[in-house]
Amino acid sequence: MGITFIGGGNMANALIGGLVARGQPADGFRVVEPAAAQRERLAASFPGIGLFGEPEAAALAGTGLVVLAVKPQKMREAAAALAPHLPSAVPPVILSIAAGIRLADVGRWLGGATRLVRAMPNTPALIGKGMSGVYAAAGTDAAGRALAAGVLEAGGEVVWVDDEAMLDAVTGVTGSGPAYVFYFLEALEQAAIDLSFEPSVARRLAYATVAGAIELAQRSEHAPATLRAQVTSEGGTTQRALAVMEEGEVKTMIIAAVKAAAERARELGDAFGAQG
Ligand SMILES: NC(=O)c1ccc[n+]([C@@H]2O[C@H](COP(=O)([O-])OP(=O)(O)OC[C@H]3O[C@@H](n4cnc5c(N)ncnc54)[C@H](OP(=O)(O)O)[C@@H]3O)[C@@H](O)[C@H]2O)c1
Repeated sequence: MGITFIGGGNMANALIGGLVARGQPADGFRVVEPAAAQRERLAASFPGIGLFGEPEAAALAGTGLVVLAVKPQKMREAAAALAPHLPSAVPPVILSIAAGIRLADVGRWLGGATRLVRAMPNTPALIGKGMSGVYAAAGTDAAGRALAAGVLEAGGEVVWVDDEAMLDAVTGVTGSGPAYVFYFLEALEQAAIDLSFEPSVARRLAYATVAGAIELAQRSEHAPATLRAQVTSEGGTTQRALAVMEEGEVKTMIIAAVKAAAERARELGDAFGAQG
């Protein structure tokens, strides 16, 4: 049973790359991608892969899973073009990775598909280090969920949610999350430059500090608050720094920012759904 991707851009390349690296043969994948340059890139990276410029029976015959990997703004049009070609005898599971698009809308645009899964990956999925929140519609059986999870795990970790609305929360925490970390990196790098380090050294200091702290936290049995307390001695340098952060309500602001992102995800879902 093959897997068909609709859209052969960055995400499709990353997921197929991860699956091929895990031993799945490239000829088990078919990709519908209108852009010739993208098809050439896929053909060069994955010899033997099936490539199509538009949906047609050969792209979908016998497929077990269709991954919708087009930009959210193109999803309605892509789904409408796909609908007449979906096999009806054994309908494939449909996995949408488009940010903000709700399954009720995907199902409607596909003319009533019910085996539906929606995932919200994040950009580290492009290097196999992502975190995807995943939700399955009620009509999706365990086998369908497993098929979808198998693809998403090629991009990193997977967390299932039982309520589709929780994917807006996932978007706020992990979808937009890499940007929060990059923002912190920017600040740490700038501080190092202000303290007279060369820019290239400042960047190394910032990256190594964040990477080291995260790995230490992951390996530790302690919560981040405990780890922070362990490096904060009374009257010391870290305590002085943290006092400045507390005065600026940095933690409160980060929490408010994540909640604002989740709220924006909900608004965007409403707007896409209003397309009809
Ligand atoms: N990149 C990430 O880390 C990330 C994270 C979370 C969620 N996502 C979601 O993943 C989806 C794909 O993102 P991406 O970064 O891979 O986007 P991308 O690189 O733009 O890839 C999408 C591809 O689909 C093609 N396409 C457009 N209309 C199509 C149609 N009707 N049928 C088939 N293919 C079509 C596009 O061609 P054209 O360029 O010619 O339009 C493009 O090559 C998005 O919905 C995004 O929200 C991505």
